[in-house]
Amino acid sequence: MSWTQVLPVNELTPGTRKVVKVSDKNILLINHEGNYYAVANSCPHLKLPIKKGKITEDGSIVCPFHRSAFDLKTGEPTEWITWPPLMSKAMGMISKQQCLPVFPTKVEDYQIWVEV
Ligand code: FES
Repeated sequence: MSWTQVLPVNELTPGTRKVVKVSDKNILLINHEGNYYAVANSCPHLKLPIKKGKITEDGSIVCPFHRSAFDLKTGEPTEWITWPPLMSKAMGMISKQQCLPVFPTKVEDYQIWVEV
C-alpha cells in the first residue's frame, strides 16, 4: 500500500465525485458533506460501475443497478440486492454478500491523497 496524490481539493467540491486511476484500479473519489471518501468504482455484485449511485442520509452509496448499498467509511454492505423486487431475493441467494473496497484518504497542501 502506498499513498498517491490524485486531485487538488478545489476539483472535488462538496457533493461532487470523480473517478481516478491509481495502480490499475478505478477509484471513485467522493466529497460527501465535506469529507473525502475513496471506494472502488466497481460494485462487488457484478463489477458494474457504482459512480452514479445515490448517497443515503446514513452515508451509504447505493448501486444504481440492483441497489445494494455500502457504508462509505467501511465498505460494509448495508443492503444487498434489493432490485428488481421480484428477482432480488433469488439473486441475493445466488450471490454472497461482499464489501465494497474502500481506501484511506488524506489532504496535504490542498491535495487529496489515496492509499492504495
Ligand atoms: S451490480 Fe451492484 S448490486 Fe448488482
